[in-house]
This record gives sequence, structure tokens and C-alpha cells, in this order.
Amino acid sequence: MTEQATQALVGAAQTARLAPSVHNTQPWRWVVRGDRLELHAVPARQLQEQDPSGRLMLVSCGAALHHALVGLAAEGWTAEVERPAGEPLAVVRAVAHEPADPHAMQRLQLLQVRHTDRRVVSPEPVPPGVRQALVDAARQAGARLHVLRRDEVLQLAVMVEHADEAHRRDERMRAETASWVGGDRPEGSGVPAAVLPAELPLTTVAERDFGVTGTLAAGEGHDTAASYAVLYGDADEPDHWLRAGEALGEVWLCATGHGTTVLPLSSPVELDFTRQALRRMLSDTGYPYLVLRLGVADPDHAGPPHTPRLPAEQIIEVVE
Ligand SMILES: Cc1cc2nc3c(=O)[nH]c(=O)nc-3n(C[C@H](O)[C@H](O)[C@H](O)COP(=O)(O)O)c2cc1C
Repeated sequence: MTEQATQALVGAAQTARLAPSVHNTQPWRWVVRGDRLELHAVPARQLQEQDPSGRLMLVSCGAALHHALVGLAAEGWTAEVERPAGEPLAVVRAVAHEPADPHAMQRLQLLQVRHTDRRVVSPEPVPPGVRQALVDAARQAGARLHVLRRDEVLQLAVMVEHADEAHRRDERMRAETASWVGGDRPEGSGVPAAVLPAELPLTTVAERDFGVTGTLAAGEGHDTAASYAVLYGDADEPDHWLRAGEALGEVWLCATGHGTTVLPLSSPVELDFTRQALRRMLSDTGYPYLVLRLGVADPDHAGPPHTPRLPAEQIIEVVE
């Protein structure tokens, strides 16, 4: 049983490589010890300028944990998870095995096609039923999602403008972004030019200007039909950031299943000033972790290519 569990945990860590992460930093490492899989953060891959507290690093690690659990379930494993609020961030045990059910396998397939979509959204709005499904998905996964009203979207647009301007003015932030974003990215991490718009689309809330030109045909039109949402929760602490990442994974999986595209916007949570403004927009009912743009996917188009990933040997260690 242990040998079988070990194999399943290695497979789960492989699945977790597909998870989204800020600037595709993939700031995680997995250690497999028998029937136990440990998730560790890798501070060397943390964005020191844009994410000094590690909030976005742990949100990314939470998304990886979510993906690992979906991978295990798709193989028919029941998992037990501990989140010790420190290092390791999480310990997963594969405790029982039975034939996988088709729903669990479909969930894994959704993660395999999920991606960040920076193209213009279609003119159709995200249906209210789908928006509600995403709110429910976030709550079930231990965080909350607030879909912004029109007046709040306009406030968000101003916050994003402030945040992006502050980034542009800061030489160290610009250098950090340049070290992760643009070009071909042969080393398996970072955001390649192929997924960045050749020209920034017309939007109410600006897409992040990474300061490099991409090659993605982002489409024409204006994103007036986009919805914007804030992923938030009860405390601004590392264990909540990890949970928020798990919720991000679940919301994104649900969105993919409903043909809804997701684009995270993290610049307004990176700066204290705009993060506080976002918090006030939530009427002080919680702490914001990430902003998401949601749109209806273009059914005639496969979407941008997948971003690269680090080789498994670099992030998965099997301890005999
Ligand atoms: C916490 C977090 C913050 C992110 N912030 C941004 C952002 O501000 N702008 C952006 O274009 N993409 C953002 N992304 C998307 C990542 O760049 C993307 O997940 C990564 O490049 C991997 O690509 P994929 O999602 O297509 O697999 C963010 C992702 C995460 C998980």
C-alpha cells in the first residue's frame, strides 16, 4: 500500500506543476516520504519587491496544493491534509484507495486546459448563475469571492492605475518584473512573450503593463462585458493566504468548466495603499488577496499557449 501511495503522491506533485503562480515563479517544492507529501515554499523564488510579505507566494503555493489534491482524487485516492501554519505549509497523506469516479477525472482534465487569458473578453457577460457558482466554489474552499458592482469596477480601475503607476516609477520593481517576464523563458519559469498581448487591449480596468511587448493577438473591442471579483478572507495571515490559493484553484477550475476565462490582477494587493482601498471597498468585512477579471471564453479559439514549467526533478524530492 505504501509503495502505491508513494507513487500516487509523486503523481500529485507532478499535477501541481500545472498550478498558476504569480509571474509563473512556481515558488513551491514537494518532498515525498512514504505515504506523506510535504509542501514547502521556496523563498528564493519569492518576488522580494512586489511581494515582500510572501502573500502572493503563499497564494500560489495554495493553488499548487489544490492541484495536488485534485490529482490524487482523480487517481481514486482519499487524502488527509494538515496545514501546520509554518513549514511545511501542508502535509498530505494518501489514506485510502478505490476506483476513481468520472467526476474526479473530469476535474483533473479541467486543470490540464486551464490557463491565464489576457485577451479581450467576449461581448457576452458572465451569466449570473456562473458568477454565483464561483462565489460558492470560493466559500467551499475556505475563502470568499466578491463580484464587483459597476461603481466598484470604476473604483478598481483607479486603484489599478495608481498601483501600476507606482510600479512603473520604482526601478527595483521594474527590474524584478523584467527578470521574470518577456522573451522565450527557456528555463521553465516566468511569463513568455507568447502569452502577453502584442498591444494592451482596451479595458475599463487596465491589464498589467509588464513593460515588454508580447506576441499574443489579444483581439479587438472593449472588455465592457468583463466581471471583476475580489478573492478575500477573514485574516491577512499566511495560513489564510494558503487557503486563498486553494480557493483560487477551485474558482478557476469551476470557471474553466463553465467556459469562463480568468485573469488575476495582483498589483492592487501588492501596494499597502491600494490594498487598504480594496479592503474599504469590501466594507471592512475581510482582507483582499487577489483581484480576478472574469469573462466568457471565445468558443472558436483555443486560447493562448501554455506557459512553461520547471522540470519535476527540480521541485519534487523523493526521500527513501
Ligand atoms: C497569485 C497570482 C497573481 C497573479 N498576478 C497576475 C497579474 O497581476 N497579471 C497577470 O497578467 N497575470 C497574473 N497572474 C497569472 C500568472 O502570470 C500565471 O498564472 C502564470 O504565468 C502561469 O500561467 P498559466 O496561469 O497560464 O498557467 C497571477 C497568478 C497568481 C497565481
